[in-house]
Amino acid sequence: MRTGSIRSGGGALEDTMSLTPIGEPRQKLTVASLREKKLQHEPITCLTAYDFATARLVDEAAIDIILVGDSLAQTMLGYENTLSVTIEEMLHHTRAVRRGVKNALLVADMPYGSYHVGPDEAVRNAARFIKEAGAEAVKIEGGEKRADLIRRIIDAEIPVTGHIGLTPQSVNVMGGYKVQGKSLPAIEQLMHDAVALDRAGVACLYLEGIPREVAAMITAEVETPTIGIGAGPDCDGQVLVFHDILNLTFGPPAKFVRRYGDAAALITHAVQTFRADVVSRRYPSDGESYHLPKETRGALETVLERKRAMRR
Ligand code: KIV
Repeated sequence: MRTGSIRSGGGALEDTMSLTPIGEPRQKLTVASLREKKLQHEPITCLTAYDFATARLVDEAAIDIILVGDSLAQTMLGYENTLSVTIEEMLHHTRAVRRGVKNALLVADMPYGSYHVGPDEAVRNAARFIKEAGAEAVKIEGGEKRADLIRRIIDAEIPVTGHIGLTPQSVNVMGGYKVQGKSLPAIEQLMHDAVALDRAGVACLYLEGIPREVAAMITAEVETPTIGIGAGPDCDGQVLVFHDILNLTFGPPAKFVRRYGDAAALITHAVQTFRADVVSRRYPSDGESYHLPKETRGALETVLERKRAMRR
């Protein structure tokens, strides 16, 4: 909450707090506050956002982390999967989201190909999200094989969030979007992955599409907060895709998706009603039109009358 004008009048910060209007004063979320929330057993909330308007709404609803996920490939750009989205497209959307976010921690997904070629290029690309788009952390998919790279990026003062389990950028290697970590060797690998990324210093760890029992074990094992999506209720926080919770994805939802609203129905109704109003000339009404000032209307009448008289 801004208290600048009162403070410049000499009052101490404590004096001004009681003058705060309605609503809790909100704190800026940081990487440090995520750790604190885990320690305090306070659930962490995260949603994706891809544009200014939704970013504002999500931020004002007090969500802790806003993720510009590469899921925007499908939700916003209509690609079949996340593999095609480019770094320029991700930067463009991250900039728009930045303008709408005040308090949430802003995390941007590094798209497929932007960190796979070599560490120098990966650091350069990660820095673009911070410098050019205002992200406060980046997200990278993959387990222990990414640990060294993550260290390199953190060394460049860029917080990194990890993402293991069902990692959509590996869709071709996984042979589809399948729940991961169902066999004992797979569970062991996931535990190795989680511990390696925790030691590398990730700011938080996204766990996607894994059995809740495995997610619970990882959450208990690592110091970094875990944020689950299709990973059960025992994670330190939960993330969902904005378009999923609002029925904007044009397909049957995954098992873990809970729909909190039907924006598709709302939009369709509004658009159909607008169309019907235009076609039937009910829109716009006189009240929705601009009018000439009285004097101009009078003067115009005189001019038109003169022209009519000349024609007679
Ligand atoms: O791209 C995305 O939206 C994500 C989250 C679902 C974790 O990676």
